[in-house]
Amino acid sequence: MKEVIKVVSCKELKGEVSIAGSKNSALACLAAASITPDENPIVLKNIPDISDIQTMIDILRSLGKKVIFENGILSMSGEINNSVVLPEKSKKLRGSMYFLGILAATTGEIYCGIPGGDKIGKRPIDIHIHGLRKLGVNFTSENGEIIVGKAEKGLEGCTIYLKYPSVGATCNLMLAATKATGRTVLTNVAKEPEIVDMANLLSKMGARITGAGTDKITISGVDELHGGVEHEVISDRIESGTLASIVAVCGGDVLLKHAIPYHNFPIISLLEDIGVKIEASDESLRIISDRNLKPVEVEMMPFPGIATDLQSSIALMATQAKGDSTIVDLVFQKRFQYVDELNKMGALMQLSENNLIIHGGKKLRGCHVFGNDIRAVSTLIGAGLIAEGETIIDGVIHLKRGYPDFDKKIRKLGGSVEIVAMDI
Ligand code: UD1
Repeated sequence: MKEVIKVVSCKELKGEVSIAGSKNSALACLAAASITPDENPIVLKNIPDISDIQTMIDILRSLGKKVIFENGILSMSGEINNSVVLPEKSKKLRGSMYFLGILAATTGEIYCGIPGGDKIGKRPIDIHIHGLRKLGVNFTSENGEIIVGKAEKGLEGCTIYLKYPSVGATCNLMLAATKATGRTVLTNVAKEPEIVDMANLLSKMGARITGAGTDKITISGVDELHGGVEHEVISDRIESGTLASIVAVCGGDVLLKHAIPYHNFPIISLLEDIGVKIEASDESLRIISDRNLKPVEVEMMPFPGIATDLQSSIALMATQAKGDSTIVDLVFQKRFQYVDELNKMGALMQLSENNLIIHGGKKLRGCHVFGNDIRAVSTLIGAGLIAEGETIIDGVIHLKRGYPDFDKKIRKLGGSVEIVAMDI
């Protein structure tokens, strides 16, 4: 018997649901909270109860941190007293990349398995290594399964240019630079809301950071950061974008509570181009769709562009648009694994390198499909909701890694999605 997701075709989605705390921000904030040895805890609110967070907590505990996580509230205290993150743990999630920055900022010694996460193409860590090396980490192994490095003389502030505005590298270099002597200037950094969230938490802990959210971040190192701080993690703009896209294809009228409009503006603008009506207020988005969707041409970009994580959701909408759409994603080469699965369901899409052409207006029909990453699975759930008949999706593990209670949320809106054990 195996757990799968069973989805049955629905009419319209109606009602309201709350958007969870951001997975990617929560991972970055857990990393930030871990670099103070203070016994006075840091309390993080709005932490999503998903398996990537549980894995991150598990690794932090193995390094000596005391972590309590209940009902979305996480409390963390104590010192990191061990520098080893084994590959069998690090490979479970991409967020384990933060142990490079955490260990550089705390013990100064890194013995860390390579990060894992979604199989969406090459995910090198050369920008992380380049920056940490400039700050004073001497790497003796960086290309294999295990990354080994030591900051023998401590960390020293410097100027670092990132050849690409990598989210993970920006966070790691902020972590390390808060504990370096003197001033560090990071240029061509990522501007994602998750970077700003992490910088806000670090500032509450006593770090001196300016420029987060722009392409230049300046950090003046401090001797020690402190605990005794509370921080509420931002809501998940990828979950809100994903749900909005599902409402777009199903039709209906749904209120997404606790969605931050500014973080969602790139996808809001695209949804409006597609023909969806959006009403944004301070902390919510109302999505109204009559399923009359127009085709789009879109390229996935770092923030404030449209997030690569929403690529498959946009493709799903394009399958229902009247006309041909194009999606280009140069951020990750292999975020297109869902294409074959949607085509199996009746979509008509052609992929050439990183360029996807979607011939819209095709009726989807339910069948057995495979979701190979977090975003692919949520997209296939959306596809199942508009397909004729029943859709069985393999990939529960990815759903549980990325979205808390996604099935329950869709059911609350009137859709039929269940995690069931099946003999397949
Ligand atoms: C984070 C998010 C992921 C999101 C991505 C881009 C987490 C846990 N994951 O991943 O959901 O899709 O940002 O918004 O927060 N690159 C290099 N060398 C490096 C680092 C990155 O070449 O050292 C390249 C990558 O291959 C990719 C691009 O930079 O082509 C963007 O990657 P990056 O922003 O680093 O993504 P992650 O931080 O891994």
